[in-house]
Amino acid sequence: MQNKEVYDELVAKFEKMYGAKPEIVAYAPGRIEVLGNHTDYNEGYVFSAAIDKGTFFAVSATADDTCELTAGDFMETAKFTTSTVKPATEMTWQNYVTGTFNWLFDGNPASAKHGWKGMFLGNIPLGAGLSSSAALEMCTVLALSKLYGIEKDKTAMAKIGQKAEHTFAGCPCGLLDQASSMYGKEGALVKSDFRYNTFETVEMGPKVAFMMVKSNAKHALVDGAYASRRQACEDAAKHFAGVLRKKVTHLRDVTMAEWVLYRSGLAETTAKRAVHPIGEDERVLQGAALLEKGDLAGFGALMYDSHESSRNWFENSCEELDTIVDTAKAIPEVYGARLSGGGFGGSCCLLVDPSAADKIAAQITKEYKAKYGDEPVCSLIKPSEGAHFV
Ligand code: GLA
Repeated sequence: MQNKEVYDELVAKFEKMYGAKPEIVAYAPGRIEVLGNHTDYNEGYVFSAAIDKGTFFAVSATADDTCELTAGDFMETAKFTTSTVKPATEMTWQNYVTGTFNWLFDGNPASAKHGWKGMFLGNIPLGAGLSSSAALEMCTVLALSKLYGIEKDKTAMAKIGQKAEHTFAGCPCGLLDQASSMYGKEGALVKSDFRYNTFETVEMGPKVAFMMVKSNAKHALVDGAYASRRQACEDAAKHFAGVLRKKVTHLRDVTMAEWVLYRSGLAETTAKRAVHPIGEDERVLQGAALLEKGDLAGFGALMYDSHESSRNWFENSCEELDTIVDTAKAIPEVYGARLSGGGFGGSCCLLVDPSAADKIAAQITKEYKAKYGDEPVCSLIKPSEGAHFV
């Protein structure tokens, strides 16, 4: 079992607190985003992978309508009933779980036949852009759907987590994080098409690995920067729908050539934002063809292009992430590097030759430390199995 020490600690803490072993334990991993940035809510394409770190949710039914939820790391407990579920302004960590519970019951958790007591524990670093919150939502939805005997497919479960983000956590995210956590496969990338919500897996082979480099720059998607980017994309899509003589509902429908021709009708900033997901979609499709041919250098070059687009056009990078990518570029054993996820801090994802991992980590750490005084965290990531029961 992956992360067995986390599971053992959770079950021991659960038993100590609630006096019996949990009825159900589910696990869901975090994710890395490899290519295709801010494309999910534009109905575009993404390459991502579930990672080898994740979160466990342990739960048992209660006899009445009471619910109790404990964060297994700092042992804080929230208490509520099935009819008092609402977004919390204190102990806001509970919103990922209570929001998921709420939408598993279509917004009417009071209709649940009984309550539950649950505890979660994971090992995904927080604020690193590795989707710890989506992992928590996905192990929650898996465990609670089993507890109540509710049947949902993976995409429906992912959407429940996304709704929890929108309404309880306040982040207008796309479906990428939850879908990657659900559809991940060992040793493989997930290639998603968010127009049709189709998820294919693509084997990576043993010659490459991913290295995540966590900057110490702040990463918070609920403070408005993410929402303003999403809004700009939607505004741009409306503009293109008006000027192009074809159906446009999202930026997915707009090509780079069309952006060049018709961008002048957009405000400067909106035009800059729009070209990022448009270019990213093209890069993911090119990247898929390159991966099929085994062209890792070509795929890596697209990752560098993706970062340039974030840096210059979408402006969701920051100095620390740029430093990591610029350092990576000078190391021959790194094929490609880019920021991963929402941006504005968090982590970079590097495609590397695993036999040179120590050298790469040392070089990046050295240059980062010289500039900022503290050290980034470099870790090799194994693409892993998606959410499942334990
Ligand atoms: C965050 C969001 C995702 C996606 C990425 C950027 O991780 O939660 O839905 O938009 O940013 O690609």
